[in-house]
Amino acid sequence: MPSIGNLIYYSAVVAWSAAIYQFLIKDILTVSIGLGRVIQSIDEFPYSCQRIEHPQLEACEDLWLDQQERVLYAACAGTKSRMAWSPVISRLDASGRRPSGSEIIALDIDSIAPNGFFSHRTIVPRGSFGARGDAVLDTVGFTSEVIDDSTIHFYFPNVAPYHGTYFEAKELGANATVEVFEFKRGNDEMKHLRTIQSPAVWSPNRPAAVGGGAFLVSNDHGVKVGWRKQLEPIIGGGTVAYCSYTGKCHSATLPPGIDIRKNLKFPNGLAKGKDGLIYVPSSADGTVKVFTLQPNQTLTQLHTIRVGMPLDNVSPDARGDLWVSGFPDVRQTMKAMADPYQHVSPATVFRIRKVKGGREDSKLEYEVKKMIEDKEGAIISGATTVVHDVKSGRLFLGAAASPFIVVCEPR
Ligand SMILES: *[C@@H]1O[C@H](CO)[C@@H](O)[C@H](O)[C@H]1NC(C)=O
Ligand SMILES: *[C@@H]1O[C@H](CO)[C@@H](O)[C@H](O)[C@H]1NC(C)=O
Repeated sequence: MPSIGNLIYYSAVVAWSAAIYQFLIKDILTVSIGLGRVIQSIDEFPYSCQRIEHPQLEACEDLWLDQQERVLYAACAGTKSRMAWSPVISRLDASGRRPSGSEIIALDIDSIAPNGFFSHRTIVPRGSFGARGDAVLDTVGFTSEVIDDSTIHFYFPNVAPYHGTYFEAKELGANATVEVFEFKRGNDEMKHLRTIQSPAVWSPNRPAAVGGGAFLVSNDHGVKVGWRKQLEPIIGGGTVAYCSYTGKCHSATLPPGIDIRKNLKFPNGLAKGKDGLIYVPSSADGTVKVFTLQPNQTLTQLHTIRVGMPLDNVSPDARGDLWVSGFPDVRQTMKAMADPYQHVSPATVFRIRKVKGGREDSKLEYEVKKMIEDKEGAIISGATTVVHDVKSGRLFLGAAASPFIVVCEPR
């Protein structure tokens, strides 16, 4: 006979796992996998979109728009290279990676003509960084901090393979750092300022500058390689780290715990909003978690925005609205990530607008609006970043693997 104490204990365990199970199954099926989701076609939305195809604009995972200069910056890895080397999705064939790494391209957005013509230039990183000191970047997301009228600082995660024959990429994953550069507007090179390497930063996805040379950066998974990584979209495991100007980093979020509902699951391209709050999207559970950065450099969660679809990068526009890309059909997206030449990845664009609440406020309210969707991947395929140009109303979409970027003009 079990004691009453034991009975209560076991009932609690059963009830707890039933609740978790219900939540899990429902969430995994409807939100993460998207069973039963109605996906719309691109012509149902008031935009005309076109692909901009150029060998240098392949696999541009992340974009940033400089409003002042009307220049769009893109971090592009090359589609073939990304198919081989993409540590975030455990693609770890270092030999298939483009030896020159990622390329940073600046596009003059006002020069994009209806015939697809545009003027652009490459921004060459100068300095000694990376395992071989050969100034090669393998970047994912990135962020920019406007310092003054002529100066921008760029923060790039660098997820390069370890250098040397003792290091097997498939066993170790990437040798991760964050690299900071100084760029003078209008130039075609940027100067390396510093490298941040820390045990608190192992799988950096996208940084967000928070002033004074400090930044936050999402670790999209809790481990670099191995079976646990495959479970993390469900059980959680990523973190957000804080790094000071001097390169000291620590985890700014709570470590993943037993109540997996609270854990960060595949935290992706986080951003600092115009309101100063930190927005952390999930590529697994379809939420954007809203945090405030405390004076002791930890993050306190204020709110959860339920978008209901796996999300990638969050990009604030000049008005303060947040634009985020979603994957309405993750099974299809996985196929397209593996081979973007053969498969399409349906895409959704959301605008998240704050309707209530301030920086210190926990009574936040947001409106989530679907702005475009492309069920067939007819034009947009595998979008990972959406940038909104408030002046023209245009949208620019980058994709981690697709061999093009997309421009959408409001009709
Ligand atoms: C790892 O990266 C650091 C910083 O870039 C570099 O100094 C080190 O040599 C790298 N280690 C290996 C084994 O590649
Ligand atoms: C940091 O500050 C917040 C808010 O005051 C507090 O809740 C948290 O416990 C502090 N964390 C640490 C590690 O001191």
